[in-house]
Amino acid sequence: MVMNSDQKIVHPFWLRTFHWINLVAVILLILSGWRIYNASPIFAFTFPKEITLGGWLGGALLWHFAAMWLLFFNGLLYLFLNTVTGRFKARFFPIRFGDVFSELTAAFKGKLAHDDLSEYNAVQKLAYLFAVVFIVLLVLSGLVVWKSVQFPLLRELMGGYDNARIVHFFAMSALVAFTAVHVMMVALVPKTLLMMIRGR
Ligand code: HEM
Repeated sequence: MVMNSDQKIVHPFWLRTFHWINLVAVILLILSGWRIYNASPIFAFTFPKEITLGGWLGGALLWHFAAMWLLFFNGLLYLFLNTVTGRFKARFFPIRFGDVFSELTAAFKGKLAHDDLSEYNAVQKLAYLFAVVFIVLLVLSGLVVWKSVQFPLLRELMGGYDNARIVHFFAMSALVAFTAVHVMMVALVPKTLLMMIRGR
């Protein structure tokens, strides 16, 4: 059977499922995390209560721990299936850094081509890999903030408990920034959203 490019499955079902579960987990974690942060702020500001989740510290912690497991197992399965199916290598590598530069320049001039949506461009590959790294960093620094005595090596690698809180905060900020840009890019090329829903 001959398949035209519209019928080609670009994002397998499992990937789409993980992507949208990840979105739910990240939203719950960020909103409840802001409420937890407000109870003992590291910096000279707090988040408006209206955009936080949980109502009070205890409630926010319950949301945070529940969503944490969702993010953790979802992420682990995503990494596992991506690796064993060879998709990780095929979709994300190689990344040519010369292409990253030329594509960023073209994007800023509004001249980035979107002819073949079935392949990620070099900037996308790098941004998605960074999103994965931010999430891994969030989980690791979160483990230290949660169970600092039980994870001494991880705690020392993060520069101690207080520093782990700062790492956790900056990894959250980086993920929020990624999501904002990511959603803007999707809005510019809405066909990609259809692909992340239908697969093709
Ligand atoms: C929680 C925040 C989010 C994270 C961490 C995230 C992460 C990612 C990652 C890592 C990929 C690449 C997946 C792969 O191929 O293995 C991806 C693709 C994609 N995401 Fe997200 N995402 C987030 C939120 C969103 C939202 C809110 C939307 C919709 C508005 C969205 C729409 C898409 C689309 C359409 C693609 C495919 C892009 C393409 O094929 O060109 N994502 N996302």
